[in-house]
Amino acid sequence: MTDTTLDAFRARAQARVETTLDALLPCASIEPAKLHEAMRYSALGGGKRIRPLLTYATGEALGIEPARLDYPACAVELIHAYSLIHDDLPAMDDDDLRRGRPTCHRAFDEATAILAGDALQTLAFQALAEAPGIDAAQRIAMVEALARASGSRGMVGGQALDLAAEGQRLDVAMLEHIHIHKTGALIRASVQMGLLAHPDIAPDQAERLDRYAKCIGLAFQIQDDVLDVEGDTALIGKTAGRDQVLDKATYPALVGLAEAKEMAANLTCEALKALEPFGEGADALAAIAEALNGRRH
Ligand code: IPE
Ligand code: IPE
Ligand code: MG
Ligand code: MG
Ligand code: MG
Repeated sequence: MTDTTLDAFRARAQARVETTLDALLPCASIEPAKLHEAMRYSALGGGKRIRPLLTYATGEALGIEPARLDYPACAVELIHAYSLIHDDLPAMDDDDLRRGRPTCHRAFDEATAILAGDALQTLAFQALAEAPGIDAAQRIAMVEALARASGSRGMVGGQALDLAAEGQRLDVAMLEHIHIHKTGALIRASVQMGLLAHPDIAPDQAERLDRYAKCIGLAFQIQDDVLDVEGDTALIGKTAGRDQVLDKATYPALVGLAEAKEMAANLTCEALKALEPFGEGADALAAIAEALNGRRH
């Protein structure tokens, strides 16, 4: 897939996500208005929409129409949006900038940010329960997969380990464990939403797509750590260098920048290898893996 084809695929996916999120989120004029405004501020605040993109690209590989994936794709994005609000709170990373704008607790207040995160999380599961075009058994499987990926054995567990590791010297295995949970779990869930919309996917196909997701999920957080060191604040839209200030466990801190980039590149190769039997159908997934590896924000 050429860069322009990926750009077109991404633009179509992003348009679907903006429309679906706009419809799922209560209007800012509905009471409690401040809470709804904060939810919309964070969820519609211009993210890259990588997770929904992965859901649609998985659908493309498996011949699933995008319309059936709108709610599942947005469910993962809603969990992601909530996780970022809470990640930025003073009790966590204490960040002032997110996507080039004040973080939710800065734009509103801390209590509103906590509640906006809570409400985005429950809205994600409401969206799955109501997903149009997805039968009841598939919806339950999606709820389970997203709950597992988001909870104490997934993203939230990873966030807890990340906080506990501040100021600690970790080994690569422990750091990988943190990254796989705090970021990898939701990336993996994004691909699973696509898989679970398929009525009878072959186990080998499911296993390969899951392997792809695991590899790019880890590569994505390694790249996030690299950007925290190298990134231009204007481009990445958040406070660069925050990880060093907080003495976070990161790949560049542990193995150095060059080795961290090498690891991300190797994981990208492994992800591409997992896609081989899918042929052209997986072009979008392959292009996403390559684009994420070279990303600058
Ligand atoms: C940032 O995720 C936080 C991590 C889990 C690494 P993204 O880089 O996907 O953030 P947005 O949604 O595009 O802002
Ligand atoms: C965020 O990781 C992971 C989750 C929100 C689950 P980071 O703390 O590294 O993300 P940024 O750098 O603030 O975007
Ligand atoms: Mg964090
Ligand atoms: Mg952070
Ligand atoms: Mg980071």
